[in-house]
Amino acid sequence: MTPPQDDVLTVETIPVDACDDNTVVALVTINRPNKLNALNADVTSAMKTMVEWAESEDSVRCIIMTGAQPLKPEEGKRAKPHAFVAGADITEFLGAGVEEITIKFTDNAIEALWNMSKPTIAMIDGFALGGGLEVACSCDIRFASSRSKFGTPEINLGLIPGYGATQRLVSLLGYGKALEMVYTGEMIGAEEAHRIGLVNHVVEADELKQKALEMACLIATKSSHTLRVAKSTMRSALDEGLTEGIATEAKAFAKLFDTEDQEIGVQAFLNREKAQWKHK
Ligand code: COA
Repeated sequence: MTPPQDDVLTVETIPVDACDDNTVVALVTINRPNKLNALNADVTSAMKTMVEWAESEDSVRCIIMTGAQPLKPEEGKRAKPHAFVAGADITEFLGAGVEEITIKFTDNAIEALWNMSKPTIAMIDGFALGGGLEVACSCDIRFASSRSKFGTPEINLGLIPGYGATQRLVSLLGYGKALEMVYTGEMIGAEEAHRIGLVNHVVEADELKQKALEMACLIATKSSHTLRVAKSTMRSALDEGLTEGIATEAKAFAKLFDTEDQEIGVQAFLNREKAQWKHK
């Protein structure tokens, strides 16, 4: 299992101690710290490659997305701030036309991340703005450091979010709060982001990696098959109406009774043993 490596996107595979097989969590770092990890074409292309790899690699059970920490400043220069991702690379908008942007923003890397069948966690330390907030919102769960800042500043560029935030923010925050963020372009802090449901957990920066990894490792101990079914069934809550969604759940639930992991899980509970999943 060789994870894809790129200058702008690195992948570290972290073994899950609680599993005695080769289960890993993939820690994916967007690596353009001098540009606050802004998403340029190289980053989005590397993200797509990473998604294909993580989907096809059985041992990868959970993916954590993060941004590189700032480098030591050059002599006489000020330090760059901490950033998860400060948005799409604005320099790539210069002179761009409708056709180019349509191609770039259709079937994009953020959508690929959103459509992953495996659990994903965003680990946010610093600015999560524009496309950066959209990367975070395309993950299933969000952990943020208390110094993080969130916003959709596209309005200040004469734009609206283009990687799905007009839709995903509505389901996370509700219509009114999402519109307020998009209309004003103002940033909010981590505590406010937590209060309105934009992030699941806020922790101190020095605890962020440990806390995000703890949750990723816990998730990684579950049956990968059941996790996949959970994610696709819960996605129905966003894509379908209530009645269809409940019918989808009933079907998915019943189908699990035809899987080895359901038998293993129930037997393990009754025998007071740890389940040894077959992931089938
Ligand atoms: N695209 C391209 N470059 C970006 C960027 C982006 N979205 N965000 C930051 N950068 C670059 C800056 O141009 C600067 O590059 P330089 O040092 O080569 O000049 C570097 O990252 C550091 O950013 P800087 O603006 O100097 O940091 P700051 O601490 O003064 O301000 C922000 C931080 C996040 C407030 C500011 O960078 C910002 O507003 N970024 C754009 C956010 C945005 O509008 N995102 C949505 C894009 S659709």
